[in-house]
Amino acid sequence: MAARAEGLTKAYGSGETRVVALDSVDVSVERGEFVAIMGPSGSGKSTLMHCLAGLDTATGGQIFIGETEITGLKDKKLTQLRRDKIGFIFQAFNLLPALTALENITLPMDIAGRKPEQAWVDKVIDTVGLAGRLKHRPTELSGGQQQRVACARALASKPEIIFADEPTGNLDSRAGAEVLGFLRGSVDDLGQTIVMVTHDPVAASYADRVLFLADGRIVDGLLDPTADSVLDRMRRFDGAGRKS
Ligand SMILES: Nc1ncnc2c1ncn2[C@@H]1O[C@H](COP(=O)(O)OP(=O)(O)OP(=O)(O)O)[C@@H](O)[C@H]1O
Ligand SMILES: [Mg+2]
Repeated sequence: MAARAEGLTKAYGSGETRVVALDSVDVSVERGEFVAIMGPSGSGKSTLMHCLAGLDTATGGQIFIGETEITGLKDKKLTQLRRDKIGFIFQAFNLLPALTALENITLPMDIAGRKPEQAWVDKVIDTVGLAGRLKHRPTELSGGQQQRVACARALASKPEIIFADEPTGNLDSRAGAEVLGFLRGSVDDLGQTIVMVTHDPVAASYADRVLFLADGRIVDGLLDPTADSVLDRMRRFDGAGRKS
């Protein structure tokens, strides 16, 4: 098991402004699995990713990364675990503009004082298809290239699991396909585990499994998704669940 949550609850605020973003969610992700998370805006997708990745604290329930329970870990230990075991890809690429592509890719390891495993980093760079662009700064790269740098950065430290929150949300369909093909390849060729939030049925079809969130709960799941089967499922609970 790469990651697991049991009874995961997250509430923001208190009293009248209290919002339950996650309502007792159970979820588990196998090693080498690619899971897509879908659901309407505000359904709790980003909150789920942030809690699973230890970027936000849970209000209730338990979260495990590999064998380690992260709920209740002290700050220092959590920071260490995040650094060693978790990769994160955000919708906005979050690259440092002053650094080259290569420097951005190895930055987390440089900060951690860890020596990159050169053969692995080379393999990642090769897979990402940016060998000719390593000395460029982010502003000199296309959106798709920038996001592939962000993917390579997440992969470079061989994390146990990568969380990606709408990694193709800012990309046109061609650049999006590049990034998704790369993520799929990292699962198939490198055994990477990925959890990805997306609104796009085509993006979701790259995953092994889709989980659907609504109002902070997992309401449905789909194995071996195709863009059509995902669309179909989305339509189904659009009709059944929509209140406004
Ligand atoms: N820091 C916060 N303080 C208060 N409420 C929050 C906070 N972050 C998120 N929420 C609320 O929690 C709920 C879930 O938000 P979340 O960002 O997880 O949704 P999402 O599914 O990622 O939506 P989107 O598709 O728009 O990104 C929403 O109702 C949101 O308003
Ligand atoms: Mg979100």
